[in-house]
Amino acid sequence: MSEPFEAGALADALVDAEPWTAPRREEIRVVRAPGRVNLIGEHTDYNEGFVLPAAIDLEIRIAYLPTDDRRVELVRLDTGQRDGFELDTPRPRAGTWLDYVAGTAWALAEAGLQLTGLRGVVASTLPTSAGLSSSAAIELASAWALLDDRAAEVDRFELARRCQRAENGYVGVMGGLMDQFAESCGVAGSALFLDCRSSAWRAVPLPPGVDLVVLHTGSPRQLGRSEYNVRRSQCEAAVAALARDDPGIHSLRDVTPMALAAEAGTLEPVEFRRARHIVSENDRVGATVRALEGGDLAAVGELFAASHASLRDDYDVSSPELDAMVEIAVAVPGVIGARMTGAGFGGCTVNLVRPDAVGALRAAVLDRYPARTGLTPMILPVRTAFGAGRVA
Ligand code: GLA
Repeated sequence: MSEPFEAGALADALVDAEPWTAPRREEIRVVRAPGRVNLIGEHTDYNEGFVLPAAIDLEIRIAYLPTDDRRVELVRLDTGQRDGFELDTPRPRAGTWLDYVAGTAWALAEAGLQLTGLRGVVASTLPTSAGLSSSAAIELASAWALLDDRAAEVDRFELARRCQRAENGYVGVMGGLMDQFAESCGVAGSALFLDCRSSAWRAVPLPPGVDLVVLHTGSPRQLGRSEYNVRRSQCEAAVAALARDDPGIHSLRDVTPMALAAEAGTLEPVEFRRARHIVSENDRVGATVRALEGGDLAAVGELFAASHASLRDDYDVSSPELDAMVEIAVAVPGVIGARMTGAGFGGCTVNLVRPDAVGALRAAVLDRYPARTGLTPMILPVRTAFGAGRVA
């Protein structure tokens, strides 16, 4: 990334974009929101299941000065694009990046929170369309800027819910809570275990001697949005069919692998496979937490492999590129586990790697992945990070 990213450089960029801020340079604030990578628990969040994501140190930052004119205007430093809206005038969705900012303003105002007008610049080290949730990151960074000094008073989990509401109710994408949750509540050094039904969560420290490497396939998530909604309806259809025999079933969270196997005949074959992924994935999240806490990395590797296979064969959201990336990675000695991460249909894999094997993984990916797919991979070693907030 060539755009500026340190707080001082971002303040300079704001002064360049908005020369009137020059005399008030000392008052410029910088907020940040991280991306996220999901370790395990894929497509389980909208089924009231379990997830284990982590916030990462690739992030979006906004440098801004509050104004009292009720206008929000931002300049993207990567493209130079400037766009804005009035806080008190309803703005219809426009199909652009600003929708995430305007949607967040709408969702925060809906909750009765007081917002400030502002002028700002936006910078990012987080690749877009990669499955690392840059959309949730722009929402959370916007929330911290729009709420200004009041942001710290809002509960982090509640803020995540507001940003999810922005995406569901304004942008029109029906995602679950995992992304906004991870990016709001992130804890450096840890993954976050969330029960999407009760909202109970806790940090799960990553054991020492485990590095996180994100591998981008170089194929963007294209079919993602429509296929995502298809998967959601298939899960709902499975629940409806299962609830006919057992009215106690309200979501796939309520179904055990054994109970599901017994119902194989009641479900359409596709619905059965979708449900089998969710039900088995929920079990794998709990098992992964126990294995991480017990230091059993071999078990973590097996759980990652089973998760990837289930997403590929039962949930049908992998791609030849994601499969190739996982196969190349797991053949490298010192790679503990590898699987696709996020919604699928392109994007990234998540890899747990012994620190001394990161070089070999990089070499193997650069050597074998382009030859197998014709695509250029991106190798992103990442660290876990804290959730969104003000940069000191
Ligand atoms: C996207 C959604 C999340 C989650 C994942 C799949 O990232 O935004 O809520 O459903 O896909 O696990």
